[in-house]
Amino acid sequence: MKNLNLVALPHFVSVENLKNDEVEALIERAEYFKKGGAIPGLTRPVYVTNMFFEDSSRTHTSFEMAERKLGLTVIPFDPAHSSVNKGETLYDTSLVMNALGVDLEVIRHSQNEYYEDLINLKEHQKLNIGVINAGDGLGQHPSQCMLDMMTIHEHFDHFKGLKVAIVGDITNSRVAKSDMELLTRLGAEVYFSGPEYWYSKDFDQYGKYEELDKLIPKMDVMMLLRVQHERHSGDPNEKKFDAHSYHEKYGINHKRYEAMKKDAIIMHPGPINHNVELSGDLVESDKCMFVRQMENGVFMRMAMLEAVLRGRKLGGLE
Ligand code: CP
Repeated sequence: MKNLNLVALPHFVSVENLKNDEVEALIERAEYFKKGGAIPGLTRPVYVTNMFFEDSSRTHTSFEMAERKLGLTVIPFDPAHSSVNKGETLYDTSLVMNALGVDLEVIRHSQNEYYEDLINLKEHQKLNIGVINAGDGLGQHPSQCMLDMMTIHEHFDHFKGLKVAIVGDITNSRVAKSDMELLTRLGAEVYFSGPEYWYSKDFDQYGKYEELDKLIPKMDVMMLLRVQHERHSGDPNEKKFDAHSYHEKYGINHKRYEAMKKDAIIMHPGPINHNVELSGDLVESDKCMFVRQMENGVFMRMAMLEAVLRGRKLGGLE
């Protein structure tokens, strides 16, 4: 990959508006951080807070690790004991953070596109804080998408012509939505599989739905999605769900693992439902990138945070 310019963005809320060369530059920068690269020392403290209104293990901790590695000052925020419980809006909470001197907020929230109110301001609004989206409702998960791209690039060194199957609870997955759009744009061929009731015709523009066992021998990447039970309230398929039969029909077991191409990989954003999407003893198998994805997430989030530091000229970066 050629040496590309550093990316500078005022916010990082979606991958949709990223140009392909910006995606490549962010991957290159994340690889630089992974090799031990650093940014110049900040000329003043930069304050960041992580506001997670939905549960998270890896994204929350990964962002905090990335922030600390970049030398940012992390200001704790606990939604369970905040004034959100007294009816404070996300916009007003952001005004609080801004008034206290916080420069950046990393947010995970159940509302689709919650960030619109924080970044597309009306003339009278003075909020001035960088927003990094750590997942919005059923919308996007840009940092997971970018770490997925890094992991695929690290293994194959290119995207063009790679065959990638996205399998499982696609309708409820913000990871899938971010990934299918960007993979298609980068030249990969996207396929889908899994329960047809969690597939929508809206995805046809990005790829083709096929039966799992037909896909497996020809795919380079099997991207498995978690069955998101917490998003199934009112879904009649949730009542009928049976983990064993899901695994039989749509999971990667040893037989399917052996049927994969020699150099093919398995990806999963986590958390994994063991013996549902993937046999438990395959989680740490050679083809499975689950741990690698989490490792890469720290370096990709450093690259994303750096892009916003530069976009907002914080700490002397630009
Ligand atoms: N992949 C992912 O978003 O995991 P967490 O919910 O644990 O952050």
